[in-house]
Amino acid sequence: MKLSSIAVVGTAALPGALAWGGFGHISVAYLASNFVSPATTTYLQTLLRNDTGDYLAGIATWADSVRYTKWGQFTSEFHFIDAKDDPPRSCGVDFERDCKKDRGCVVSALHNYTTRMLDADLSAGERAVAAKFVVHFVGDMHQPLHTEDVERGGNDIQVLFDGRRLNLHHVWDTSIAEKLVGVPRQKPYESAKRWADELTTEINEGKYASARVDWLRSANLSDPRSTAMAWVTEGNAYVCTTVLPEGPDAIRGKELGNEYYGAAAPVVEVQIARAGYRLAAWLDLIVASLKTQSSSSSSSDDL
Ligand SMILES: *[C@@H]1O[C@H](CO)[C@@H](O)[C@H](O)[C@H]1NC(C)=O
Ligand SMILES: *[C@@H]1O[C@H](CO)[C@@H](O)[C@H](O)[C@H]1NC(C)=O
Ligand SMILES: *[C@@H]1O[C@H](CO)[C@@H](O)[C@H](O)[C@H]1NC(C)=O
Repeated sequence: MKLSSIAVVGTAALPGALAWGGFGHISVAYLASNFVSPATTTYLQTLLRNDTGDYLAGIATWADSVRYTKWGQFTSEFHFIDAKDDPPRSCGVDFERDCKKDRGCVVSALHNYTTRMLDADLSAGERAVAAKFVVHFVGDMHQPLHTEDVERGGNDIQVLFDGRRLNLHHVWDTSIAEKLVGVPRQKPYESAKRWADELTTEINEGKYASARVDWLRSANLSDPRSTAMAWVTEGNAYVCTTVLPEGPDAIRGKELGNEYYGAAAPVVEVQIARAGYRLAAWLDLIVASLKTQSSSSSSSDDL
C-alpha cells in the first residue's frame, strides 16, 4: 500500500507523465490487436520483431519513455494539442491556432508518423519507430485533456480522488480507468487485456455495436490531418460537457471519486473503445496501402 501511493505521487508530479497512465495505452493496443486484419498482424509482428499476442501492447507506452530523454525531447509536444478554446462556455480545436508551428502537436505527429510508416525509402527500423508513435498518439488524442490548453491540460488543477491528492490530468489519464477496471498497480497487462476483450465484445455485439461504423467515418488515409482533427474535436467536446462542466474552480480541491466519477467513467470507456477500434482500422489502411505499393513495384520484399 505504502509503496504504491508513493508511486502515484511520483507519477503525478511529472507533467503529463504516462498519458492514459500506461494502462490506457496498453488497453487501446490490446483492443486494436483484436480488430486488425491477419495481414496487419503479420506485417506489424515482423516490423516490431515480436510474434506474440502482446506485439502492440508491449510498445504502446514506448513514446512516453522517450519523451523526457535527450534523444526524444523533440517529441514532447507530440502527445497533445493545446486547444485555446474557452471551456465550459465553448469548446473546439483549431489546427492553425492550436498546433505549434515549430514544435508540432498530436495532429501533425499522427500525420508525420503515418506518412513515415508508408515511406518505403525509410529503413525498417525507422518505420518501426513510426509505428510505435502511431500506436501511442492515436491513444493520446482520445484523452479529452490531451486536447485542451486550460491550466496545462488540467495539470495545474489539484483535486482529490478517493482521498488522494492528484491533478485533474492524472485523474483522466489514469485514476478513472483504473477505478473502473480495478487494476492492481503492478500488473497492468493482464487487466488491460481483460478489459480490451470485454470492450471487443461490446463493440462486436454489445452497447457499441451500432456506433462502430460511425466511429470510422472520419478515417481517411489520404488525409491524416482531417482524420486526426475529427478525432480530437470529438474528444475535446467532452471538456465542456464532462471534464469541466462548471469550469476549473468548481472542482478545485474537491473530491471527484463519487458523482464526478459517475459521469466521467462512461466517457473514459467509450474513448478507449473508440481509440482501439480506430487504431486497428488506421493500421489496416496503412498496411493495405503498403501491399498495393509493393505489388505495383518490382520489389518482392514485403517489409
Ligand atoms: C513481445 O512483447 C512482450 C510484451 O512486451 C514481451 O513480454 C515479449 O518478451 C516479447 N517477445 C519477443 C519474442 O520479443
Ligand atoms: C517527423 O518525424 C521525424 C522522425 O522522428 C522527425 O525528425 C521530424 O521532425 C518529424 N516532423 C514533424 C513535422 O513532426
Ligand atoms: C480523403 O481525402 C482526400 C484528400 O484530402 C480527398 O480528396 C477525399 O475526397 C477524401 N475522401 C473521403 C471519402 O472523404
